[in-house]
Amino acid sequence: MRDILEELEARRATARLGGGESRIAAQHAKGKLTARERIDLLLDEGSFEEFDMFVAHRCNDFGMGDTAMPGDGVVTGWGTINGRMIYVFAQDFTVFGGSVSETHGAKICKIMDMAIQNGAPVIGMCDSGGARIQEGVGSLAAYGEVFQRNVMASGVVPQISLIMGPCAGGAVYSPAMTDFIFMVKDSSYMFVTGPDVVKTVTNEVVSAEELGGASTHTRKSSVADGAFENDVEMLAEARRLIDFLPLNNREKAPVRPFFDDPARLEHSLDSLVPDNPNQPYDMKELIHKIADEGDFFEIQAAFAGNIITGFIRLEGQSVGVVANQPMVLAGCLDIDASRKAARFVRFCDAFEIPILTLVDVPGFLPGVAQELGGVIKHGAKLLFAYAEATVPKVTVVTRKTYGGAYVVMASKHLRGDFNYAWPTAEVAVMGAKGATEILYRSELGDAAKIAARTKEYEDRFANPFVAAERGFIDEVIMPHSTRRRVARAFASLRTKKLQNPWKKHDNIPL
Ligand code: HXC
Repeated sequence: MRDILEELEARRATARLGGGESRIAAQHAKGKLTARERIDLLLDEGSFEEFDMFVAHRCNDFGMGDTAMPGDGVVTGWGTINGRMIYVFAQDFTVFGGSVSETHGAKICKIMDMAIQNGAPVIGMCDSGGARIQEGVGSLAAYGEVFQRNVMASGVVPQISLIMGPCAGGAVYSPAMTDFIFMVKDSSYMFVTGPDVVKTVTNEVVSAEELGGASTHTRKSSVADGAFENDVEMLAEARRLIDFLPLNNREKAPVRPFFDDPARLEHSLDSLVPDNPNQPYDMKELIHKIADEGDFFEIQAAFAGNIITGFIRLEGQSVGVVANQPMVLAGCLDIDASRKAARFVRFCDAFEIPILTLVDVPGFLPGVAQELGGVIKHGAKLLFAYAEATVPKVTVVTRKTYGGAYVVMASKHLRGDFNYAWPTAEVAVMGAKGATEILYRSELGDAAKIAARTKEYEDRFANPFVAAERGFIDEVIMPHSTRRRVARAFASLRTKKLQNPWKKHDNIPL
């Protein structure tokens, strides 16, 4: 019996070594942790339960017959993050470069099936040379099976992809279909075709980092939602994100203990909006001052800075925040901002996370590039996302909200539950100057007349009261009481029930 137990331990030890000491050393030399080290840091200490440690590939082609390594290049299983169950897989670059074989893919599918069935998130750590070249179409089939499960899991359990090494070719489409992608700076990259193929086909010379590094994907392409300095920082932040999310679409996000008075008044907010309407201010200050303990987890911080998205807690409950940022493009909505916010709103709605919208928006960004780029279709995404969302929606207009953007930004007309405005808010079709120039074009030569007309328009519309008279704004609130008002609003909406008509699925303008 003892021999048998020792044999098991020996087999386990071999499997835990993956591709062996020298390949582990090479992994460390690149500043990367191994698959098992990553899992250990991601999950609560000692909570990891492994599946399929002894699974090996079945390929005999190209000399693969006697190369089987237990685990086959991916470590899979489940464990907990702050006591809540999570399924994980971590590709092991030390075994065949983490490449995906039929058996490797089957291991990932097994834990994804369990995650969907048992209602727990999936976190995938990607570090792979792509399809196992020796296996050919068997490897492509494995990817296809994973893709299908990504789609089945979408909107059912949160899926997070941590890109911690290469992720290239069709392999990128699995992370692309998950809810959030994080990348490690300088040691991870994602592209459909790498620099060599690009050079051959288009004659463009580009480095892997420029083509698909963390900076490219968080700043330019918006493929990724966050970039981190190293593996350790990313894993810590993934734990932090998971704490904001429910385990599945039938559960609420966890309520965390909080040590911040929900009725806290913030008198500094009374002077947040500058007297000069053209002067910007930092909307993040408002977010931090509303949030429990000022804690804000920002999503896509480096992309489309004119809109801010991320998670806070109010009375310990998760809330998704969407906010115009007057510091960037005056807070205009454009193609990028609309796409970014629309995806975030849909994530929140799919997982029953209430949405707080902070509005200071002069309208959609004018320009040929915007129109030719399809701002109509992209802007409609955000409108659509807000309109279909059935989660509690609380909106606060801090300064201006004009035109179509007024309607889009979680207005009363899109089933906003609480629509508050600060006394500094202007709810109007457009700014007074623009309005006067259209209405009184014939008087444009007379500066005094135009100034008087502008003043008249301002007096009538440059305030929240016209909208409040119609009930489009429920209440004009003091800036200093925003946290209290918003927290009470969400508290009153905890039992909200709203259903859209039955449909197979909608047809959001993609
Ligand atoms: C089998 C692979 C492999 C692969 C790497 N290895 N990629 N084995 N299939 N796809 C093995 C290497 O042979 C090597 O084995 C070990 O992993 C480490 O690889 P190195 O090349 O030494 O590492 P490095 O220099 O860091 O380069 C990493 C790399 C490179 C850039 C990822 O390995 C590479 O270019 N690999 C091939 C990438 C590729 O073309 N994949 C197919 C893409 S098509 P030893 O034994 O020496 O340690 C695709 C389609 C997916 O993925 C479609 C889905 C629908």
